[in-house]
Amino acid sequence: MTRERPLAAIVMAAGFGTRMRSASPKVIHPVGGRPMIVRLLTAISGLAPDPAIVVLGHGAAEVEAALAGHLDGGAIRFAIQDQPRGTGDAARCGMRMLPAEFAGDVLLVYGDMPRLSSDTLSRCLASHRHRGAPLSLISTRLESPARYGRIVRDTAGAVSAIVEAADATPAELAIDEINTGVYLADAAVLRQALDELRPVNAQGEYYLTDIVAAVRRRGLEVRAWVAEHPAEFAGVNSREELAEMEADIRRETNRRLMAAGVTMVDPATVYISEEAEVGRDCVIGPNVQIVGHCRIGDGVRIEGTAFLSEVSIGARSYLKLGVRAEQCRIGEDCEIGPFANLRAGTELEGHNRIGNFVETKQARIGRGSKASHLSYLGDAVIGRDTNLGCGVITVNYDGYDKHRTEIGDRCMVGCDTQLVAPVKVGSDVYVASGTTVLRDVPDGALCVSRHPQAVKPGWTEGWRKRHRKADGTGAGHSGEGRE
Ligand code: UD1
Ligand code: CA
Repeated sequence: MTRERPLAAIVMAAGFGTRMRSASPKVIHPVGGRPMIVRLLTAISGLAPDPAIVVLGHGAAEVEAALAGHLDGGAIRFAIQDQPRGTGDAARCGMRMLPAEFAGDVLLVYGDMPRLSSDTLSRCLASHRHRGAPLSLISTRLESPARYGRIVRDTAGAVSAIVEAADATPAELAIDEINTGVYLADAAVLRQALDELRPVNAQGEYYLTDIVAAVRRRGLEVRAWVAEHPAEFAGVNSREELAEMEADIRRETNRRLMAAGVTMVDPATVYISEEAEVGRDCVIGPNVQIVGHCRIGDGVRIEGTAFLSEVSIGARSYLKLGVRAEQCRIGEDCEIGPFANLRAGTELEGHNRIGNFVETKQARIGRGSKASHLSYLGDAVIGRDTNLGCGVITVNYDGYDKHRTEIGDRCMVGCDTQLVAPVKVGSDVYVASGTTVLRDVPDGALCVSRHPQAVKPGWTEGWRKRHRKADGTGAGHSGEGRE
């Protein structure tokens, strides 16, 4: 059995990220719903480096916490760079975490490249190993190379140095091949090159990019792997670049979904997370956000202005204008909204109708049941084919604890009913409108609690007369603007 050559990874994330003007480290700012550093480490973990070292400085604890929440931190080690003396110094800090006897390749990546893919990394690694180069890097060509480091090649076309924009001559600034910030190096060659770095440049920093010239000085080859899709290597340095990347990711997601059979009335206002699944023939209206791991079945219609997070929706369901739903399961053929608020723990079995101004929370609602208008259903279990009239309210909170309401199958719960939990209503029950249900109701019963109704014939006229005398204006119910 041939043993694989060992691979370690170093991610440099200790910079101040000054241009972000943030109290938090740059790499924990989310893009496409996940912190930049989480995205990057997810891509790197595809190569299974051992160890993966993350170099932290400013806000180290915050970065560690962000990673703990998202990744299995087992294979990750942290190195601290106490002062941001440059990317070269950060790489040295990372190398110090690597056992002295480590012999293999080291992948070096900047922490602010959230779009890098696992696939690109593994193709670059394969090519690096096939060629047996001591140092490889990924370059790409940009129409406006702006502040990126330029790849300088000698007359034979071999890479001879990287020159930072701040240090470049006008001729060098005209070079359109740039340094993406991904390197693969033989550990021993890298150690020696890092030792030779000196902070003699416009920024007074140790530049990692100077390892290229150092390796060349020893007569060794440096290979640039020219990537075709520059978008993958975009670095985020400012809030504006963050927003641009967010928009790029979003456009790509929308394009992919439309290609797979989703209609978007106006993709410019549709925000769908990359991990969401959206079925065929779904129609998505304007101003829709679908965040997190949502699963939307085939033929679902979302009229517009909706916020859906961690939600699954069964086939053919119809969300009318203004639905907010979080951590819920909506079955097939449901009709929701307009203006409905489905909070965490809502489960609709299917063929349900949740109408305008209905709020649900921790509510399991059986197949075919409906709450069409103005209700609050919290901590409730409702059976099948039950109709909840307008204004039905579960009174679930006593100021200390939340209590459960249970309602069976095929019930008619009248308008303006309050169910004071804990309470159980059986199946086939009729609850008269305006009832306050305080005690359990058995199957098949009618439940009524009403105040007696008094009727006083001719009362209105007397009432208006008394008022006319009192203010002398004669204005009353039908008077001018005195209501
Ligand atoms: C760097 C490269 C440039 C390349 C570009 C690609 C250098 C000198 N320049 O420039 O050639 O085209 O990335 O995006 O390497 N960091 C530390 N410690 C430090 C300084 C930085 O850990 O002391 C980390 C930062 O947190 C960041 C990464 O290194 O994640 C890159 O640093 P940044 O300042 O963004 O470098 P660029 O100026 O973008
Ligand atoms: Ca950068």
